[in-house]
Amino acid sequence: MKKIFPLNKVNSLLQSGPVILVSTFYKGRNNFMPVSWHTMLDFDPPLIGVVIGSDSFTHKALLETKEAVINIPTVKIAKQSLFAGKVSGYKTDKFLKTGLTSVEASQVKAPLIDECYACIECKVHDSKMSKKYDFFVLKAVKAHCDLSVREPKTIHHVTGNIFIKAGKRISL
Ligand SMILES: Cc1cc2nc3c(=O)[nH]c(=O)nc-3n(C[C@H](O)[C@H](O)[C@H](O)COP(=O)(O)O)c2cc1C
Repeated sequence: MKKIFPLNKVNSLLQSGPVILVSTFYKGRNNFMPVSWHTMLDFDPPLIGVVIGSDSFTHKALLETKEAVINIPTVKIAKQSLFAGKVSGYKTDKFLKTGLTSVEASQVKAPLIDECYACIECKVHDSKMSKKYDFFVLKAVKAHCDLSVREPKTIHHVTGNIFIKAGKRISL
């Protein structure tokens, strides 16, 4: 039997996409932050909406540089990914602290994160809703993926410190 569910926890029912690491290059520094609030908006060109809080270094970087990379981590680097959500690029060099490897991208100055199984180079397509909703629309301009990773164990945020690790793929 279903019970009344708190409205301020509704997000935990809807979370499903993988946690992504949005990397940027701003003020001469590489940085990244985990983001679980994102959504596909279109196929071609691929448009991806991301909610990036206005206090974050990443928000400022997106507004100023209009570029980012969406990196998709797996459970192997879950600890480093979460750490990056607890500190800010304003104060911390997250690449140095986590030991993750930045690799040059080809279409944007923001770095690829080598340990992620897929990386999508993006340009900011629309930031009109960034002031009201912290919402940015990114356009994918180049994508890289390790196809040998057959069933990527991506991590999916539920709430607090609860995550779901992606499981077996099924065809229906
Ligand atoms: C699993 C996880 C998911 C997160 N998802 C989001 C999100 O969708 N949007 C957001 O603004 N912040 C999110 N955060 C918080 C940011 O990652 C955090 O504020 C980060 O320190 C900002 O880094 P920056 O200042 O270096 O940009 C998340 C944190 C964690 C741990």
